[in-house]
Amino acid sequence: MQKDDQIFVATGFKKWGMTTATMAALLLKDLILERESPYTLLFHPKRQRVVPQLKNLIRYNAKTAFELIKGKLKSVDEIGRLLPGEAITVKTEDGKYGIYKDNQNELWMVDITCPHLGCELSFNRAEQTWDCPCHGSRFKVTGEVVSGPAHCSLKPTKNHIHPNLF
Ligand code: FES
Repeated sequence: MQKDDQIFVATGFKKWGMTTATMAALLLKDLILERESPYTLLFHPKRQRVVPQLKNLIRYNAKTAFELIKGKLKSVDEIGRLLPGEAITVKTEDGKYGIYKDNQNELWMVDITCPHLGCELSFNRAEQTWDCPCHGSRFKVTGEVVSGPAHCSLKPTKNHIHPNLF
C-alpha cells in the first residue's frame, strides 16, 4: 500500500482478496481520514525484510519441486478394487492418470498433470476433486476446473472408461 499525495493503492492479494481487500479498504479509509489504523503495520510496504522473503521463496519452491518429483514416482495398479467415491493413480506409457469410480460404478480417467505448471494432482476424497499440492488448483473428477490458478481443464481425451474394461 502506498500513499502518493492523493492516490492510495492496495494490490497483490493473490487468492486472499475477499479478506485482505476488506482490511485494506478499512486501512485506506483511516489513511484518507488521517486517523490511526490497527492495520498500518500489517500492510506497510516495508513490513518484511528481503532475507525472510527469500527464505520463504526457497522453501516454497523446494516444496513445489518435491511434490512434482514425489507424484511422478508413485504408481498404483488397483483399478479393479476401486470402491465408489474412490480414486487411484496409474502410470501408462503416455503419462500418469487419475481414475475415479462414481456412485454408478462409472470410471472417469483424467490426466493428473496440472495444466498450470505441471505438478501432479492428488485426489481429495472429502471434496471428490483432484487437487494440486503446488499452488492449490482444484478440478472435478471429470476434469473441469473448480478453482485456479489453473484456468484450463485437465486433458479431456480418454476421460471416461467403460465400466467393463477392468
Ligand atoms: Fe498446479 Fe500450479 S502447478 S496449481
